Amino acid sequence: MKDAFILIEDLLLRFTRPEKKYMAGHICPFWVGYFLLNPLRRLLENPNKILGPFVREGMIILEPGCGMGYFTLPLARMVGAKGRVVAVEVQPRMLSVLSRRARKAGLSARIDLRHAGAGTMGIEDLSGAVDFAAAFHVVHEVPDQGSFFTEIWSAFKPGGKLLVVEPKGHVSQDQFEQTMAVGEKIGFQHEALSGKVGGRVALLAKP
Ligand SMILES: C[S@@+](CC[C@H](N)C(=O)[O-])C[C@H]1O[C@@H](n2cnc3c(N)ncnc32)[C@H](O)[C@@H]1O
Repeated sequence: MKDAFILIEDLLLRFTRPEKKYMAGHICPFWVGYFLLNPLRRLLENPNKILGPFVREGMIILEPGCGMGYFTLPLARMVGAKGRVVAVEVQPRMLSVLSRRARKAGLSARIDLRHAGAGTMGIEDLSGAVDFAAAFHVVHEVPDQGSFFTEIWSAFKPGGKLLVVEPKGHVSQDQFEQTMAVGEKIGFQHEALSGKVGGRVALLAKP
């Protein structure tokens, strides 16, 4: 049950794009975005429970690889009217769906949607402004993890924290450790996580 969503995504990929499976830089297909919005996902990944300990009203949050916004709308509610969620996504179609969902929920004013370019999230303007970043199931899809962590590092205030959650079905413990080593080289330090989050999880902080 624990990794049921990842397992189903994995099976779907196996049949639809077998050549892409487990390849670095593989991008989650657009239609999987709808699947990731399934309300049953809350049983495994409850956004309020996972993110509640990190997010406060008024914060500026960065969400790389937001997809259709399973975590984005809850984040926007948590930061309140004075906060902002910068949601970055490489697939414009994911952003269109998220934009519609945000409008419907009356949260558009708190969400800054950004289309990531090739090799960059385009967040230079956020330098030293971000309090917290949530990277759910995206880092294994990023072709240049060094740039990814460097951009987040630059966007962070001192004390900024990055929650990385990766799916066990796609990312082995070895691969996860290699990813962590990239972040550590840039200067991120590990912090203890309280509470239970499924998958391969780390909390990285900019001292
Ligand atoms: C598996 S989905 C997860 C979506 C969302 N975080 C969630 O948990 O529901 C990964 C998302 O990251 C996006 N993505 C992959 N590489 C990216 C990059 N370099 N920059 C921004 N988004 C990226 C994909 O397009 C996809 O929407």
